[in-house]
Amino acid sequence: MSSSWRSSGLFCLLSLVGSNAQKQINPLIGTTNGGHVFPGATLPFGMAKAGADTNGGDNQGGFASDGSPIMGFSHMHDSGTGGSPSLGNFPIFPHAGCPGDDINNCAYTKDDRATGLINGTVEAYPGYFALTLNSSIHAEMTVSNHTALYRFTFPTEPLDSDTPLSPLILVDLADLPNSRINGQVEVDSATGRLSGNGTYSPSFGIGNYTVHFCADFLGAAVRDSGVFSNNRAGVGRSLFVQEDGVNISPQILPAGAWTRFHAPDSNGQVLVRVGVSFISAAQACGSAEKEIPNFDFNQTLSAAEDAWNTKLNVIEIDAAGVSEELQTTFWSGVYRSMISPQDYTGENPLWYSDEPYYDSYYCIWDSFRSIHPLITLLDPHSQTLMARSLIDIYRHEGKLPDCRMSLCKGFTQGGSNANIVLADAYLKNITEGVDWATAYQAVVSDAEDEPLNWAVEGRGGLESWKHLGYIPTDDFDLNSGARTRSISRTVEYAYNDFCIAEMAKGGLGSVEAYQKYSQRSRNWKNMYKEDETSSINGTDTGFVGFLQSKFMNGTWGYQDPIFCSPLLNFTSCYLNPNGHETYEGSSWMYTFFAPGDMAELIATLGGPDTFAKRLDFIHESGLLYIGDEQAFLLVYLYHYAGRPGLSAARTRFYIPSQFNDTIAGIPGNDDSGAMGSFSTLTMLGIFPNPGQNVYFITPPFFKSVSLTNPQTGKTATISSTNFNPNGENIYIQSAKLNGQPYTRNYLTHSFFLDGGMLELELGSTESDWGTAKSDLPPSLTFSGESAE
Ligand SMILES: *[C@@H]1O[C@H](CO)[C@@H](O)[C@H](O)[C@H]1NC(C)=O
Ligand SMILES: *[C@@H]1O[C@H](CO)[C@@H](O)[C@H](O)[C@H]1NC(C)=O
Ligand SMILES: *[C@@H]1O[C@H](CO)[C@@H](O)[C@H](O)[C@H]1NC(C)=O
Ligand SMILES: *[C@@H]1O[C@H](CO)[C@@H](O)[C@H](O)[C@H]1NC(C)=O
Ligand SMILES: *[C@@H]1O[C@H](CO)[C@@H](O)[C@H](O)[C@H]1NC(C)=O
Ligand SMILES: *[C@@H]1O[C@H](CO)[C@@H](O)[C@H](O)[C@H]1NC(C)=O
Ligand SMILES: *[C@@H]1O[C@H](CO)[C@@H](O)[C@H](O)[C@H]1NC(C)=O
Ligand SMILES: *[C@@H]1O[C@H](CO)[C@@H](O)[C@H](O)[C@H]1NC(C)=O
Ligand SMILES: *[C@@H]1O[C@H](CO)[C@@H](O)[C@H](O)[C@H]1NC(C)=O
Ligand SMILES: *[C@@H]1O[C@H](CO)[C@@H](O)[C@H](O)[C@H]1NC(C)=O
Ligand SMILES: *[C@@H]1O[C@H](CO)[C@@H](O)[C@H](O)[C@H]1NC(C)=O
Repeated sequence: MSSSWRSSGLFCLLSLVGSNAQKQINPLIGTTNGGHVFPGATLPFGMAKAGADTNGGDNQGGFASDGSPIMGFSHMHDSGTGGSPSLGNFPIFPHAGCPGDDINNCAYTKDDRATGLINGTVEAYPGYFALTLNSSIHAEMTVSNHTALYRFTFPTEPLDSDTPLSPLILVDLADLPNSRINGQVEVDSATGRLSGNGTYSPSFGIGNYTVHFCADFLGAAVRDSGVFSNNRAGVGRSLFVQEDGVNISPQILPAGAWTRFHAPDSNGQVLVRVGVSFISAAQACGSAEKEIPNFDFNQTLSAAEDAWNTKLNVIEIDAAGVSEELQTTFWSGVYRSMISPQDYTGENPLWYSDEPYYDSYYCIWDSFRSIHPLITLLDPHSQTLMARSLIDIYRHEGKLPDCRMSLCKGFTQGGSNANIVLADAYLKNITEGVDWATAYQAVVSDAEDEPLNWAVEGRGGLESWKHLGYIPTDDFDLNSGARTRSISRTVEYAYNDFCIAEMAKGGLGSVEAYQKYSQRSRNWKNMYKEDETSSINGTDTGFVGFLQSKFMNGTWGYQDPIFCSPLLNFTSCYLNPNGHETYEGSSWMYTFFAPGDMAELIATLGGPDTFAKRLDFIHESGLLYIGDEQAFLLVYLYHYAGRPGLSAARTRFYIPSQFNDTIAGIPGNDDSGAMGSFSTLTMLGIFPNPGQNVYFITPPFFKSVSLTNPQTGKTATISSTNFNPNGENIYIQSAKLNGQPYTRNYLTHSFFLDGGMLELELGSTESDWGTAKSDLPPSLTFSGESAE
């Protein structure tokens, strides 16, 4: 991407930028190695997500690049999630013909119909996904907002003397995790239309959800239609299935409907248009008819490509000399950051509201760290709609979510981290129509009022939090939630309170509220045991002072500081009832989590030099796993120790070795784009401290990067002299902001709102740029020179 494109006439420029950027997006990155990425066709934040679903294996996102056979093509997915697979309701599946021309000889169940794909035929780019089944059927798909459009190209000859070409397309009432509780399908024998609904369980939450579909066909004359159950097909006009306790997950009764066609018109193609809705089948049909009236595949695809271009065009990079690997890693990360959450506005059956409704915040524990800050930079309008939808969820559900999918409450992993998302938005001009008074009420409710089931919203242990200032390891809370994770919940609650204090200070609360929540944000220290030591395999690490488990009576408990470190000793450190005191990470790691109070943390841990050595140790010992999101901030904490050059070196330590352009190129679950947004912000050189008006400056991976704010129209550019595309010269020697010397090692959001030019002079050794106390980002006990 060369910056000279901007000068070459607007019209061809836009398509050029778009198509080149799209060539550098590989949606298949993260479809193996546990990335769980959805690689199919979607609009930015679109509800319809059309993709192939593999049978078995790691199919959380539908398709995995592991050679598993394809059991169908479904219309809604979540991307990058852990836990059980999500959505994937009403998969369709094509047969070119039934052996002996008998409908009962076609395969209907997932296992029986699953068909291999021909290697090398998978093709994916934004808005498009295709592959060829080894039955010689070529399947292509694209989408509009609520509708998936499939184009199946069938062989033109009979399959064998016994099997005339007479395509049968079935719709299965299943979902990916086989969670169906009930389902119903109807067949319109005149048009071949299949429609229906089903009730299912969410993949990482409580309750159930009902969803509807409407499938129409074009390209071949309808021959007949009917329903199926197991592998028996018949001519029924409707079918109702309800799990009866015998056929329970994962053995739900296979059931659905089918339409059979005469041989297709000359090009061998049958188009299938599937509308989806959480309101009704009529709404699913209505959206499909409105969004894709003529089944025009090319036009639908081209609208999807335009939608992606519009989102991507706010970024411009000068990639001269930079490897294809890094460019593809970069653009693919941008792309994956805009798959979720999904815009379900107008599709929420739970309450009536004029506010936007987004779903699949999956989960905010993952997404507050880099996804929402990146969306705020690239697409502030969408971030505004998301903030408003979070506030509306509070209005109608009584609490902000920490995780939410498929219209259901999802499980909370630590703190009430929507507090961080809202504080971040509040500090960054996410203003349009946001009811900030209600937002503030919502965050205070998290801090003050414990819900009955804090497993799915709010915080638990609030009595202890208010009176003891930490979550004791033997906390006995009357309400529901796993009474584990006392250390990680304590540090997350502390930072949540820091964010509430900022909102209070910013004008939403009283001075007293500011003081109260700032005070509570220091609570991380109540679990700090200053004489705790740590050994690995009997060798002392040499560092002293770690967060440690503590009982209600003030006596210390014990959890080995390296325990729950994914690469060294990870045993049941999830949301299980027999879980431990830290969640998906060690006390070693959580000891670094005081993002609002870094000056105090560094002093507590023995000063900047020891602190930098301790950071080096966690990065290099195997104690830290960059595939889990809590690790992200640790790449940049050197900035607070006056060593921004070490953060810069750390960025190159992880990219491309852990984030790259291979299909295995994500170190853990992508978690709705968390990993993608980490690599994007890191390569742009502006990683945020989420929840604060702070972006750590490190040298971008490109000679220059520009972001144009779509609301203000202003462009912020960072350009480097002595830039080396191979990652030498990564130390900033000096900087100028809009022509003036600039020594602070961080930027604030006004740079992106007002536009401007940051010029970095790079060199091959650490310098004293950004190292003075007055250059460091603000902290609770140290407010920086003139932090805004
Ligand atoms: C197709 O690819 C899979 C891995 O995705 C591999 O296991 C299999 O051997 C390949 N088959 C052929 C025929 O190359
Ligand atoms: C097609 O895929 C099925 C299911 O994976 C497999 O059993 C079959 O051998 C494959 N056929 C060919 C010709 O590759
Ligand atoms: C999808 O919906 C969004 C939000 O309503 C709208 O702005 C956009 O134009 C729609 N995209 C397409 C391709 O229809
Ligand atoms: C599901 O579809 C059936 C048949 O159209 C309909 O009678 C039923 O009301 C629908 N269920 C829901 C929850 O909409
Ligand atoms: C779905 O959840 C609702 C609300 O909790 C409950 O009333 C209903 O019985 C559930 N539906 C099914 C089919 O289990
Ligand atoms: C759709 O686009 C493809 C590729 O650009 C082209 O080959 C084909 O002719 C187009 N089809 C129609 C119906 O316009
Ligand atoms: C600890 O010792 C075990 C057994 O000898 C070894 O497998 C492991 O790699 C060691 N771990 C570290 C971090 O040294
Ligand atoms: C404090 O409580 C813990 C956990 O119940 C217990 O093991 C410990 O003995 C108690 N300490 C004192 C001093 O009572
Ligand atoms: C892992 O932690 C468990 C529980 O604390 C402990 O029993 C075990 O020895 C540890 N293993 C290693 C290799 O440190
Ligand atoms: C790409 O990233 C993956 C996941 O982190 C890693 O396992 C792999 O070694 C990396 N590959 C290269 C070529 O760097
Ligand atoms: C804040 O955003 C609004 C659009 O919502 C925009 O009009 C305004 O210029 C922005 N303010 C600043 C200071 O950039």
